[in-house]
Formats: sequence, C-alpha cells, structure tokens
Amino acid sequence: MSIKRIGILTGGGDAPGLNAVIRAVTVKGIKSGYEIIGFEEGWRGLLEKKFRRLTIDDVEDIHIKGGTILFSSRTNVDKIKNGFNIARKNLKEAGVDVLVAAGGEDTLGVALKLHKAGANVVGVPKTIDNDVNATDYTFGFDTAINRISGFLDMLRTTTQSHNRIMVVEVMGRHAGWMALHGGIAGGAHMILIPEVQVGIREICDVISKRFESGKRWALVVVSEGAAITELMKDVAHSSQLDDFGHVQLGTGKGIGDVLANAIEYETGYETRSIVLGHLQRGGTPTAFDRVLGTRFGVHVIEMIEKGEFGKMASLQGSEVKAASLEDAVGELKTVAAHRYETARLFFG
Ligand code: F6P
Repeated sequence: MSIKRIGILTGGGDAPGLNAVIRAVTVKGIKSGYEIIGFEEGWRGLLEKKFRRLTIDDVEDIHIKGGTILFSSRTNVDKIKNGFNIARKNLKEAGVDVLVAAGGEDTLGVALKLHKAGANVVGVPKTIDNDVNATDYTFGFDTAINRISGFLDMLRTTTQSHNRIMVVEVMGRHAGWMALHGGIAGGAHMILIPEVQVGIREICDVISKRFESGKRWALVVVSEGAAITELMKDVAHSSQLDDFGHVQLGTGKGIGDVLANAIEYETGYETRSIVLGHLQRGGTPTAFDRVLGTRFGVHVIEMIEKGEFGKMASLQGSEVKAASLEDAVGELKTVAAHRYETARLFFG
C-alpha cells in the first residue's frame, strides 16, 4: 500500500507534550515524503471534517508549549450512530491513508475499534495520569508530578508557619500515580490513592502521632478518586457524564474538602484544603515530556513505514518500541501494592 497522507488528532484531556508529538509527526512525516493533516478537537474533527494541512513552519517550536495546537475533546466515535463508518468515510474523503491518534485509554480504545473497523490507525499514549498499560510512562505525567512537587514546596512553608494540616487534592480518578510520585517528591506525610483502601482512623492516627512528636504540621496528598471508606458518600460527583461515561470529579465538595473536614473534626488540628486541578495539566512541558513526545512522534512514523498498524509507540525501559493497542486498552495501569509501601515508609 502506498501512503501519501497521514492524519493526526489529539483526544481527551490535554497533556503537556502533545505539541511535541504533533511537531515530531509533522517534521519526520514531511521529511519522509508524506503530507500531514491535523484533525481538530479530537474525534469530533474527524467526524465533522474539521482539518487542515500542517507544514514544518506551522509546528516550529510548538514543543515548548503546553496544550495542543489541534485542540481536544472527549467526543466518542462509539457513541455516534454509524460513527466508525462516518470516520472511515471522512478519512477516505480527506485522502488520509493512516491516522495517528494521541490520547489516553479512551482515545486509544476508539483508535483500536477504528482499526478493527478497517482503517489504518496507530496510537501515541498520552495522559498526565500515567495509567495507560503497555508503556512504562505516558508523556504529560512528568510535567504534572513536577507541578505537584513544586506546589507542595510552596504549601510546605505556609502550612509549617501556621502549625496546620494541608490536604492537597490532585488528579487521578482511577490510578494514584500522580499522588504517589508527586507526594513522594514533595515529601508528603500521607498519600491516599484509589488503589489502597484506608480508613479515616488510620489517617488521623498517623497525623496525630506526628503532631505529638512535636512536628506540628503536615502535608496530605489525596487523589481525587481516593478510596477513603467512610468519606466516599460525602464526595460530590457531578451528575454529568462525559461521552466515555466518566463522572466529573474535583468540582464542588471533592474528596480534598471532605477529608480536610474529617481530619479537623477527628484530630482537633486546624486543617485547610486545596484542589490543584488543571494547574497540574497546564503550562509548558518539562524537558522529559518534550523529549518523550518527540521520540513517540518520530517512532509512529517509523511504525507507519513498516505497516505496523493497530499498535502504539511505547516506552519500554529506555527504548521506544511498538506495543499492541489491544494490550494498552481494556484495563488501566494502576499502582501496585509494593509501590505504595515504599511511600508509606515516609508517612508521619
Ligand atoms: O484524564 C486526565 C484527567 O486529567 C483526569 O485525571 C481528571 O479526572 C480529568 O482529566 C479531568 O478532566 P476535565 O478536563 O474534563 O476536567
């Protein structure tokens, strides 16, 4: 099959490093003799034929910027009547022979289905959550955990000055990678993640012991989807579901607020909470994410040249290789118990 045009789209929540992927796909693609087409707003752009040709000039230096120049959405092709047929027809009309889909579990799941429906698709694993299987890391994660540890450094001095407890809510609905790595790096005294069920008593015991030892302040990092048995019922979930069926967290009374109230009530120590929210996702990518996005982008063009469709670029150790999309989706990559035990050593 002779390939002339390669399309690219970015779907789901944006992640720092997406522009590095777009730049790398465009530069490597054009230098290898292909035309590059950018679909805007993720799968919506493919379904609604919103696309434009990308040149090397269009992508100059964009890798230093956060977000995605192609915009993003959580539109799910699977939720649209005849969605996969429309997507295939639109690819054909746009003369696109292969599509590169950069996204997390949801976007890559759609990419796999579109591939099974007969289109040539390759994936690039993106998410600040780092919860995509079949790759050691996704880009965006490094920037997000650097943000978290940076904010913890700032929160540390004000929390310490007031002899308080600060509960810091971070993103991560189903996987606690961001809380774990951001919390370890920022020296959190307690980290709570979705994978490990902890009771409010245990949390308060750890904090109380710390206060009784004379260290009268504490930083607690909590994933937005953390499993704190007694508190789950009090957490406000938006009734709104996105196209992939996810409830919106981090709005209204999230786990951070609820946990802070419970800690203050149980221990009697003054407690504040803060939701880091989209500050974790915005802004310029770290050098690591710029380089990982670049390597992924270059690698997918090499995969396309070898006809490796239905696969994604993946970091395996220090090498970027191809991994099957089938292995990447279906199940999230969550935090293993022994990884939490490492963090637990530093609690209190
Ligand atoms: O999927 C990435 C993610 O950052 C999650 O950690 C978080 O729950 C969600 O996106 C928030 O997305 P939105 O931009 O829709 O608020």
